[in-house]
Amino acid sequence: MRFDVLTLFPEILSGYLGQSLLKLAIERGLVTVAAYNIRDWSHDAKHHKVDDRPYGGGPGMVLMAPPVVDCVEAVRKQSPDPGHLIMLTPQGRRLTQGVVEELAQHQRLLLLCGRYEGFDERVRLLLEPDEISIGDFILGGGEVAAMTVIDAVVRLVPGVLGDERSSAEDSFSGDERLLEFAQYTRPREYRGLTVPDVLLSGDHALIAEWRRQQQIERTNDRKKGTPGHA
Ligand SMILES: C[S@@+](CC[C@H](N)C(=O)[O-])C[C@H]1O[C@@H](n2cnc3c(N)ncnc32)[C@H](O)[C@@H]1O
Repeated sequence: MRFDVLTLFPEILSGYLGQSLLKLAIERGLVTVAAYNIRDWSHDAKHHKVDDRPYGGGPGMVLMAPPVVDCVEAVRKQSPDPGHLIMLTPQGRRLTQGVVEELAQHQRLLLLCGRYEGFDERVRLLLEPDEISIGDFILGGGEVAAMTVIDAVVRLVPGVLGDERSSAEDSFSGDERLLEFAQYTRPREYRGLTVPDVLLSGDHALIAEWRRQQQIERTNDRKKGTPGHA
């Protein structure tokens, strides 16, 4: 699977890409991540400007359409698969595990990160991206949101997790989107709190039943009334 991140700050990604699961996935050739600086497509040879003041007045700067559109078109051409274009924006559809599963069906995702007051509207009108928000709050830029999408999607790329069951058992997975059951590891007793007997019983059917019950109770307690949950 290939990710292309289009940003004004490509260096933000490097520390994150060099750690843990993602680093291993890249080393094993399961995932490729490339970052591009939108500024390289600036039409201003002298100052490499990519933003300007908003028409109609108001605070802040807006990312200009020509460098952004040129950047997306050039990056798209770098592979025979033009990819699925995502614009990170607080105005997009909310990222959920269901959306992550949908995105993981693509072989190539392009992630367009905004800054300042966001993009000139014509970027959206011309490129018709899949607009994705990671929640109803405002970040300073799209990079953290892009990394969130990559992190969540990579877990679903076959071969990335040592045991495919871990993503199938995670919260929000499966048709019912239930939360995961409570997990315990050693020590058996900690500050007076003991591991439930059922988990030490060795009875797999009983453990499965207990876990399923936990999933239902936790989801009802914590998620009742939230989108995607009854
Ligand atoms: C300061 S925000 C601009 C917000 C814009 N003025 C608005 O009110 O919709 C700058 C950039 O951060 C990114 N961003 C901010 N919040 C986000 C969120 N919740 N989800 C995804 N991207 C976000 C977007 O790429 C956005 O273009």
